[in-house]
Amino acid sequence: MNRRKSVFAESYNPDDDETDERTVYPKSNQQRASLGEALNDSILFKTLEFEQMEEVLDAMFEKKVYPGDYIIRQGDDADNFYVIQTGTYKVFVDDVFVKIYNGTGSFGELALMYNTPRQATVQAETAGTLWALDRKTFRRIILKSAVRRRNLFETLLDSVPMLESLKSSERMNLADALVTKYFNTGERIFEKGDRSNGMYFIEDGEVSIRVYTPDDGEIEIKRLGRGDYFGELSLITNKARAASAAVVKPCKLAYLDVETFERLLGPCREIMKRNIDQYENTLVEMFGGKDKITDIR
Ligand code: CMP
Repeated sequence: MNRRKSVFAESYNPDDDETDERTVYPKSNQQRASLGEALNDSILFKTLEFEQMEEVLDAMFEKKVYPGDYIIRQGDDADNFYVIQTGTYKVFVDDVFVKIYNGTGSFGELALMYNTPRQATVQAETAGTLWALDRKTFRRIILKSAVRRRNLFETLLDSVPMLESLKSSERMNLADALVTKYFNTGERIFEKGDRSNGMYFIEDGEVSIRVYTPDDGEIEIKRLGRGDYFGELSLITNKARAASAAVVKPCKLAYLDVETFERLLGPCREIMKRNIDQYENTLVEMFGGKDKITDIR
């Protein structure tokens, strides 16, 4: 398989095409519902806002296929992205069979995202129905959302002193890996004593950081809002959560899990070494002495 170029290989300004006409193919409510369901499975669409999702649903058009039809040929320029409604489809790379889609799934996103020729051939084995999304709408909506997300999340990551020493390319990779999570008022994000598995940035909402009192009550030790972050120590220590986090106002949070952090940036320890002095002070404050910091990852 060709090496993927960056998603952003083509210089792209999300506001350039703000005035683009929307493409609308009318659909029955039932068609919209089943298409929406099919798209739900695709990670590409997970980050879209409601309005963007509506635009995608509007723009998709039906394509009937017959046994033996070539939907995509390896090496061609890309036209559409496809979501399977019905039918079975075989994938070949360099004429070698690699995969079969059986009635569900989607394909054809690689060439559109990475701006490369088609990386595989896709052939219908049975008759079936596909939903197609044209290149222009795909790039406008999917990439627009990806670029905005990246800009927002990079700003969030910029605010964390612990991550100051990251190179900008490292920060960009992390920004892409942040996952949006929603919590309602009263929900608990984690409890004191829980295994630490990642950190959170507050895009919107309010969070109360709380500890127990000796009489089994609970007090707030910190109130956090938009732009704040919490749980960052989990990226470098194996300590359990030192306090609980409860939602005070409905929250939209960006979550960075430890596994992703380590997969993208190598062992955290190495990164932290770059500005360990500053960090050590925080740890000493947290754990009450250097000798107590026994379980740094
Ligand atoms: P794209 O390269 O645009 O067109 C062919 C599609 O086949 C590709 O996007 C993927 O969506 C899909 N595909 C499935 N399996 C593979 C594979 N092993 N290598 C490349 N593409 C694959």
